[in-house]
Formats: sequence, C-alpha cells, structure tokens
Amino acid sequence: MTTSELIPGPLTTSTWGDGVFPLDEETTLTAGPETDGTARWLRAVLVAATGLPLREGEPGPPGSAAENSVELRLDPQLPPEGYRITVRDRRALVTGGGPAGVFWGAQTLRQLLGPDAFRRAPLRRTGWQLPETEIQDAPRFAWRGLMLDVSRHFMPKDGVLRYLDLMAAHKLNVFHFHLTDDQGWRIEIKRYPKLTETGSWRARTKFGHRASPLWEDKPHGGFYTQDDIREIVAYATERHIAVVPEIDIPGHSQAAIAAYPELGNTDVIDTTSLSVWDTWGVSKNVLAPTDNVLRFYEGVFEEVLDLFPADAVGFSEFVHIGGDECAKDQWEASPTAKARIVDLGLTDVDELQSWFIRHFDNWLAARGRRLIGWDEILEGGLAPGAAVSSWRGYRGGITAARAGHDVVMCPEQQVYLDHRQHGGPDEPVPIGFVRTLEDVYRFEPVPPELTSDQARHVLGTQANLWTEVMEDRTRVDYQAFPRLAAFAEVAWSALPDPAERDFAGFERRMTAHYGRLDALGVSYRPPTGPLPWQQRPGVLGRPIEGAPPNV
Ligand code: ACM
Repeated sequence: MTTSELIPGPLTTSTWGDGVFPLDEETTLTAGPETDGTARWLRAVLVAATGLPLREGEPGPPGSAAENSVELRLDPQLPPEGYRITVRDRRALVTGGGPAGVFWGAQTLRQLLGPDAFRRAPLRRTGWQLPETEIQDAPRFAWRGLMLDVSRHFMPKDGVLRYLDLMAAHKLNVFHFHLTDDQGWRIEIKRYPKLTETGSWRARTKFGHRASPLWEDKPHGGFYTQDDIREIVAYATERHIAVVPEIDIPGHSQAAIAAYPELGNTDVIDTTSLSVWDTWGVSKNVLAPTDNVLRFYEGVFEEVLDLFPADAVGFSEFVHIGGDECAKDQWEASPTAKARIVDLGLTDVDELQSWFIRHFDNWLAARGRRLIGWDEILEGGLAPGAAVSSWRGYRGGITAARAGHDVVMCPEQQVYLDHRQHGGPDEPVPIGFVRTLEDVYRFEPVPPELTSDQARHVLGTQANLWTEVMEDRTRVDYQAFPRLAAFAEVAWSALPDPAERDFAGFERRMTAHYGRLDALGVSYRPPTGPLPWQQRPGVLGRPIEGAPPNV
C-alpha cells in the first residue's frame, strides 16, 4: 500500500525511496498521554486483522518513536483534528493536535497497512508493513456528517454501530440520527411508552415509490431502548463522532399521533383512527399547536437531552428538531389553531410554525443546547445560536449564513444519496436526480455568493440517506457507497474549486479503496453497475430528473 492510495486524500505526503517498516511479533504499540482511547481502538482492530500481538511498549525519544514501535502522541501545535504520521527507521509516530487528530491519524495508518487490515481475522501473520513516509493532514470542515433515516426503515443497533465504524474509516464525525417520522418512532421514551409500543411498527409497507402498486405485506418495525442509545452514543464518542438526534416536529409526526391521538388536530380529523403510515410522501397529519403538545414534547426532549450528553464530543450540544415539510392543511381547517393564531397575535399558519419552532429554540437554549433544523425553520426568525441544515439547495444556507446563523450544507441536488447514481435502467428503485460518483466528488459545500466572513458560518457538510426504498443494510450500502467516499474527501481535503479536483486521480485511489470496502463487507455499487442481486426489477421508482426528494 502506498500513500497515494489514501481516501480521503491527505493534505501533504512525502516519501523517500521505497523503504518500509515491517511489523512483526516484536512490534509494540505505545500510547502517549491522552491517546489511550485511540490506542485501544487501534490495537483491537490491528490485532484482529494482523494476528500480531502489538504489545504495549516504552515511549521513544522526543520527536521519534522507539525502534520497532508504533507510537501515538499529542502535539498541541497541530490543529485539534490534524495529525502527522512519520514512518522511518523501523518506527511509526502518529502525532495528533488533540485526541481526535490522533484518531484520524490512526485511521490513515490502518489504510497504509493495506485492505486486509480491514478484516476481522488474519489471513496471514507476515508481510504487514508500513511505507516510509511523512504525512501532514487536517480537515477542511469541522462538521463532516452523515444523516441516516432509521424511521422509514429501521436499522437494528448492530447496523448503526457498523455505520459508525464506516464513518470513522472515512473521517466523518457527525452522525445525524433521524429517529422519528410518519412511518416509525425509533427511540424509547420512558414516560410515553406507546411511542414505541404503537409508534415503532407498521402492519405493511409500500414497496417502491408511492405510485408502486406493490406492498411488503409483513409488519416492519423496531426501536432502540435507552440503553441501546447510550451504547450507540458511547461507541460514537470513542470514535470522535458526535451523534445529533433528530425528533421531527411539528410535521412528519404521524407515528407519534398514532401512538397518542391527542397530539393531532382532533378538531379536524378523528386521530384515533390513524396508524403508523405505511406509504411514502409528506403526511398531512401534523402536531396540534397546543400547550399540551408543547408539554408532551418537552417531556420527550428532557429524556433525549439526558441520553445525548452535550459534552460527549464537538457538536454534541446540537439537537435537531426537524421542522421540514409541515403540511398546513389541518391547521388551516382547525378552529383551535385559528384561535391560537389570534391569541398569539400571529398572522397565519406559517407564523404558527415559527412560534412552535421558536418555543423549542428557547427551551433548548435555556438548557445549554443548540437547536438545528431543516432550512424551513428560517421562515419566521431564529434565536442567534440556532443552526440550519440547508437541504432545499444552497438558498437556505446562504440566507442563514448572511443572517449570522451556522449552516450545514446538505443540498438535495448534490448529496441526497438516496437519489440514483446512474441513469441506466438497472438502478434499484431509482429516485430523482442522477448523481454519480463524479458529481458528488465535485460538490462544493461553500457557495460563491458568500463573503469569507459569511462562509465561516458554514460549519461543514453532510450527506443524507433517506430510506424509503432502502429496506435493509445492503440497500443502504448500495446507495451510500462508493459515493460516501467521494463525499468524505469533499468534507476533509478536496480543493475548494471543484474544477481543480483531480477526479481521475480519485478514481485511481478508489481502486485501492474498493479493496478496503470489500474487506469491510460493504455492498457498494460496483463501477460497472449493479450486480444481479442488487437490482429490483419491476419495482417502480421515481426516475424523474428534478423530482422532489420525498418519494
Ligand atoms: C427533507 O428532505 N425533508 C429534509
């Protein structure tokens, strides 16, 4: 393996000749102060993959590692997430600006050992070697995210942990966990047990786009217990990944209303007749704008804040409240909602939505947390600390940054990985835009309209995986990979000008990366197109260029 095969590509590498540091039974792994977490992780994965013992060693002299050792250290001169790797004279030194930098350096070190270093048991115990090199690296963006929708299709806990490992391997550091929607409520809330007893499963599921005549006629469901959530957060924290939970309000709430009918607009429809939604789109069954609903969700968020501690890692203070696509039909028809508008001195239902969001903005801020929501939350004004996930293109993000709000750029036109990755007829249940590996590689999170001061509000970027037509983890893998590798490089190190990015070079590096993904058991889309069992012949998608995202 050579340094020219790394993904995401590092900022700089220098090599001198083709010398190597061969690892053997005597090679040690030494953790300097504050690097124990990464040492534990690195030892676990490398002992499993190589079969070498990697015993704990004695630290080497300043500026170098001891002979025949891999050593981890901190150097506060480097940026907190930055690192340097020096391999020479049978020594490897990984130095990070902070614990996270050491961890990202360890990820690079694993890549340098070759694809078999990504296996869970050794194929061989000899031939493990690191190329002599010096690598200097640091991320361009602080927020390098992946959103996973576990509502439309539940991903069991072990699959979520696996995705955290896949994120870490790509130096992604924010897991946006879309836990609630019309089609399922996935997080145990002790004071409201019916949210999961009733809200976490549906009797059947539309198979394909909503226009498809097909149904999967079996119950679908699942949820994470509070201990599962604690485990997921702890696992992510060990990998320097923040978990940002999303509880979607006031729209995308049919599963909650099915569990507690009093949450809905009971003066407009008989909410007791609602069940967890079994098809796709934007449900008109939204939360009622009442004090009881506010109190109910405060109770939900109290438990959520307890489960997702603010001080876990950077960005853990954020709580996502959704705020997208709230259909206003029922509020327009509701005397209760109308009376509320009058009482609050508002003009219309759109202001009612802002009032709802602003309530939780203040509520979270009073508890030392920061609200983040989809760009619809901008309509009506926000508290200064609130941030925006810009999904309907760049526009929301530009408005937010100009108004002084932090932004995560995740425009549906570029980084909604549920959209098909090829225009051919064999793509499984094809949705919306064609966005190829190259398209994602050339995505630029910072729009040119922003001044450099405004651009500082772009915390970073995130790829989103909506799972209406991804019924299991192999389908999620197929949509995510290989494009998530391109996205990871955009977030970490790609040049700001997309025209200057070397896609041919990236594709060459991908040849090595497919080997890593194979070793990790990722069901990616091969460059030649879907394998027979990755296709879904006869299942209707929505292959319309320019189609809205919600299938
Ligand atoms: C979204 O795609 N509705 C955020």
